[in-house]
Amino acid sequence: MSKEVSIEVDGKGVKVQDGITIKKALEMTGYKVAKYPEKGSLFAPCEIGGCWSCAVEVDKELKPACVTFVKDGLRIGTSLPEGHVPKRIVHSFSGHTVGGVGTPWWLKGSHGYIEAACFAAGCNLCCPQCQNWETTYRGKGKAFTPKEAAETMTSTRSEFGVDRMAISGGESTLNRRWLVEYVRELKGLNPDPDARIHVDTNASILTRDYIDELVDAGMADIGPDLKGYYPETFMRIAAIEDKGLAERYLNTAWDAAKYLIDRYKDRVFIGIGIPYNKELISVHEIGLIGERLYEIDPEVQVCVLDYRPEFKRLDLVKPGYEEMVEIHKILKGKGLKAVICQTQHGHIGPEL
Ligand code: FES
Repeated sequence: MSKEVSIEVDGKGVKVQDGITIKKALEMTGYKVAKYPEKGSLFAPCEIGGCWSCAVEVDKELKPACVTFVKDGLRIGTSLPEGHVPKRIVHSFSGHTVGGVGTPWWLKGSHGYIEAACFAAGCNLCCPQCQNWETTYRGKGKAFTPKEAAETMTSTRSEFGVDRMAISGGESTLNRRWLVEYVRELKGLNPDPDARIHVDTNASILTRDYIDELVDAGMADIGPDLKGYYPETFMRIAAIEDKGLAERYLNTAWDAAKYLIDRYKDRVFIGIGIPYNKELISVHEIGLIGERLYEIDPEVQVCVLDYRPEFKRLDLVKPGYEEMVEIHKILKGKGLKAVICQTQHGHIGPEL
């Protein structure tokens, strides 16, 4: 039988098994832990210590509950004090030559650096073919405050001589308070009209009020991903086994795309991302996505990403150039005007 330790949770003494995480201890003492942000629950979407959405106060210090272990005498506070400074792990601030799905297509062929980017650790999805897995699942590294990250991004912008500043991941939106404050700080440090703050996201928790907050804070470009038309496809691509949760994520992403276009099309550049690999999504379904996007806005930029073998799906075969040309034709055939496809030979632009 393993040893028990005494800890204090929100002022109440409890005994829990030694060697478990604070998240586990909270669950065992009746706290609700959720994979979708909900009032009254501890939001723990990544569980690798990357996003710090699950942060609690441990002996007056902010710590991620999913990777911090209990020990005798620990005092945990689950309600963070008003005005606390959020943190999350962000990696790899650097210049980038390709851009993300929220980068306007006409910049993608430019030579040299298009934007400065950084990558937030942690994701709520578990895509076995994750294209950014090395940064997504790196739960170690510096946990930045929004101000520190904004200062680092501002100097990266200046170092690479660009105007666009992107945050990707992992999933950039997981720690809402952190991201909104980061965008606000970054805008404050880059008040010139050329500066563009770009958020790349799977959009699965990007609710309408969250979008409003990001736009108010200064976000100028966004690249939401739509990982399927059917929840079953989303479940396969994102390795989410809970169908109810997958539907919630997918519906939120589609609603975010529509809301962004309906409300902010004149203020924010929007580029929609769609994954393609025949093992993951059918050509027919790509057509259905195209039809639905056409109904929302025929002019919206749609960028198809050719999913290559990565991470746990090294068995995948990267779609060939001709296959991507076919996908391009299908989406154009649905009436979409600005379709671009990522291929082994660079991007196919809206005009073939
Ligand atoms: S859920 Fe704990 S750090 Fe992301």
